[in-house]
Amino acid sequence: MKRVFVTRVIPEPGRKLLEDAGITVVEWKEKRKLSKEELISCCSQADALLCVSSPVDQEFLQASKHLKVIALHSVGYDHVDVAAATDLGIPIGNTPGVLSAATADTAFLLMLATSRKAFYMHKTILKGEWGFFEPTANLGIELRGKTLGIFGLGKIGLEMAKACAGAFGMKVIYHNRSRNEPAEKLINAQWVSFDELLAESDVLSVHTALTTETAGRFNTAAFARMKPSSIFINTARGGIHHEGDLQRALEEGQIWGAGLDVTNPEPMMSDHPLLNMPNVAVLPHIGSATVETRNAMSILAAQNIIAGLNGERLPYPVNPEVYR
Ligand code: DGY
Repeated sequence: MKRVFVTRVIPEPGRKLLEDAGITVVEWKEKRKLSKEELISCCSQADALLCVSSPVDQEFLQASKHLKVIALHSVGYDHVDVAAATDLGIPIGNTPGVLSAATADTAFLLMLATSRKAFYMHKTILKGEWGFFEPTANLGIELRGKTLGIFGLGKIGLEMAKACAGAFGMKVIYHNRSRNEPAEKLINAQWVSFDELLAESDVLSVHTALTTETAGRFNTAAFARMKPSSIFINTARGGIHHEGDLQRALEEGQIWGAGLDVTNPEPMMSDHPLLNMPNVAVLPHIGSATVETRNAMSILAAQNIIAGLNGERLPYPVNPEVYR
């Protein structure tokens, strides 16, 4: 029987699909990260790896060359040395599409929560600080008719843009390396340069992958070019913004607020100053955390494992060049 090692407990539908295909599923059940040595050791008896969050680097890959397939329980693959896997002939699969709506919902939630200082105001109740009503206190900003700037208009960015245009009639501008013409037609989005995106967005929402090109892109220089009334949202990867620069930009009023589902590093320390700022909302990377989405992700990951173990092309390959 073929054996897959799974680095965390995954939803039942994915596990069942694997078991129904006659694959032995070995899950890491401890609620702590595996060390690299443990991961190598657990994979030594496996034919495939279903990976939730563990780094898949060159050293691991060299020690685990025998793996027939590595399926990620994520759409993002910045934790994987894809080139090294391709050199070793190991196909890597991910879970595209199925988490776009849930992740966009999280961006929308953070935008609204930030604009109305919701997380901070909730904490004032817990601290016994709900005092008398003050017409000039606790004021947020409204989103109707404002401009949404999307950095990385792909599937997730498009869902966010559709929600903002539908709910608040927001005008949509975006910056990508190349234009997304179908999205332009669908929601009347307008491509702008990165500088224009910074200067014109009332809400700037990040929906791009973490790459050498996007790492640290939102730094002091970028925040300084944004509107003092603007809100920065990141549900993609914490490495795309510079957290110290973001904190300074908020303290100095270069931007108005920020909503983060991703931080750098993760987890964020519980005493981080951003957590006590009124115009900031932070979540612990729950973008895809709905029953429906996580079930769907587990199914796509299982389908990648089954195809890989059968010697077939993965349905959702990250490195299709491995088949050339
Ligand atoms: C992904 O799929 O990359 C998400 O960040 C995990 O929830």
